[in-house]
Amino acid sequence: MANHTLIRGGTVVSAERAWRADVLVSGETIAAVGEGIDVPAGTRTIDAGGAFVMPGGIDPHVHMELPFMGTVSVDDFLSGTACAAAGGTTMIIDFAIPSPQQSLLETYHVWRERARKATSDYSFHMAVTWWAQQVADEMGVLSREHGVNSFKHFMAYKNAIMVDDAQMIESFEVARDLGAICLVHAENGDLVFRMQQEVFARGITGPEGHPLSRGPEVEGEAANRACQIAAVVGVPLYVVHTSCRQAMEAIARAKLAGHRVYGESLVQHLVIDDSVYRNTDWRSAAHHVMSPPFRTPDHQVALWGGLQGGTIEVIGTDHCTFRTEQKAMGKDDFRRIPNGTGGLEERMSVLWHHGVRTGRLTPSEFVAATSTNAARIFNIHPRKGSIAPGGDADIVVWDPEATRTLGVKHHHSRNDFSIFEGMTVTGGAVVTMSRGKVLWENGRLAPREGHGRYIDRPCFGSASRSQAVRNTVTAPTAVERQEFVP
Ligand code: URP
Ligand code: ZN
Ligand code: ZN
Repeated sequence: MANHTLIRGGTVVSAERAWRADVLVSGETIAAVGEGIDVPAGTRTIDAGGAFVMPGGIDPHVHMELPFMGTVSVDDFLSGTACAAAGGTTMIIDFAIPSPQQSLLETYHVWRERARKATSDYSFHMAVTWWAQQVADEMGVLSREHGVNSFKHFMAYKNAIMVDDAQMIESFEVARDLGAICLVHAENGDLVFRMQQEVFARGITGPEGHPLSRGPEVEGEAANRACQIAAVVGVPLYVVHTSCRQAMEAIARAKLAGHRVYGESLVQHLVIDDSVYRNTDWRSAAHHVMSPPFRTPDHQVALWGGLQGGTIEVIGTDHCTFRTEQKAMGKDDFRRIPNGTGGLEERMSVLWHHGVRTGRLTPSEFVAATSTNAARIFNIHPRKGSIAPGGDADIVVWDPEATRTLGVKHHHSRNDFSIFEGMTVTGGAVVTMSRGKVLWENGRLAPREGHGRYIDRPCFGSASRSQAVRNTVTAPTAVERQEFVP
């Protein structure tokens, strides 16, 4: 018999509105939302008085135990999803990344194996890092048989996982015909490579060389190129970790021209600026090495504006953590510092504090940016990203007044450094429930290894495929996307 839980007395917040309602959870799903719900005998009650009841967060950009730059990121699917639960996030989308020439299917199965220990639900974008007919064929198998509807392209990391324009165009065309969406890491990898050599040759070997070698123009150029290629091919595009005005302008231009382009920014880029690279403490500066790098404060103003104005739909984290001894691989050469920072546990609180409490975002806009928009874009809504009968009971009870100071002492990441160290935030998860199971309650984590499930994300429907012809004007319309059955 299913267990029942009533979340009572809270204000339910969706991406559209907020209203007073109780939520009855039956087993793994939401059974009812409303007032005066009849509850079966033995129902457990969670008191949400004074709190918000929101869809669990979805972070569609994370990397768990990623082999990268000669090492492996330290948070795995268990510690990563535990961090997520402590921060109110109930689903992550990781990236399965094949080495060049490696089979995509084989890579997918490697990631499935790694993810078995997850305590909450997960899915994978598949990266396209090389090109051959085999890659095209495997994209088809992955989308038809394994619920992969998104393909990622790294326009940077030359001589490693970067693809060139010709490869990207081939992949975009295949994705379009499958009804999938393409993702890009938008930085011009050839320019980055050249600038890195130049900066290093000038004797700049420390972390301060990192931002000098990948300025906003490098990102803006690539974002614009990806947007325009996607428009010509006729495939939907999602630009990950948009960090600067130039990239946002490229996305905004594409949107204004009617192309289906989505923007993601990271919570880190909203609140941390490039002064971190001038820290004379090498360890601290190195821990902020990520790509794209932190930017000058004027870019942060643009990012907030883009989030408020709709250029940016999703706030993710790109959670990819390396400990000090790993960062030290680049002690004498910034080009060897493994790129990546954490943020999965902090994402929702930091966005609430700096976004909702400052009046930049409404609670509904917060829900959209942290959960619902990702669910819609990656075709798992309304099962995920909503509080509605029949949906998965992925729920966060959110105390808007809970205050805490972030840092290594309190986080659940395996990292020995926090880029949020000392930041005090108000607003946080008091209860996080994943498919009906409470993983986090009143500051206590109760991870359930293996409770997490792989979530299939079907491709978008044939209506959009027929529209996705090679042209620069006609992208699939919103109406057609609504026909897609999750
Ligand atoms: O620095 C970053 N972002 N590391 C993770 C890999 C990526 O580019 O997303
Ligand atoms: Zn990236
Ligand atoms: Zn990433």
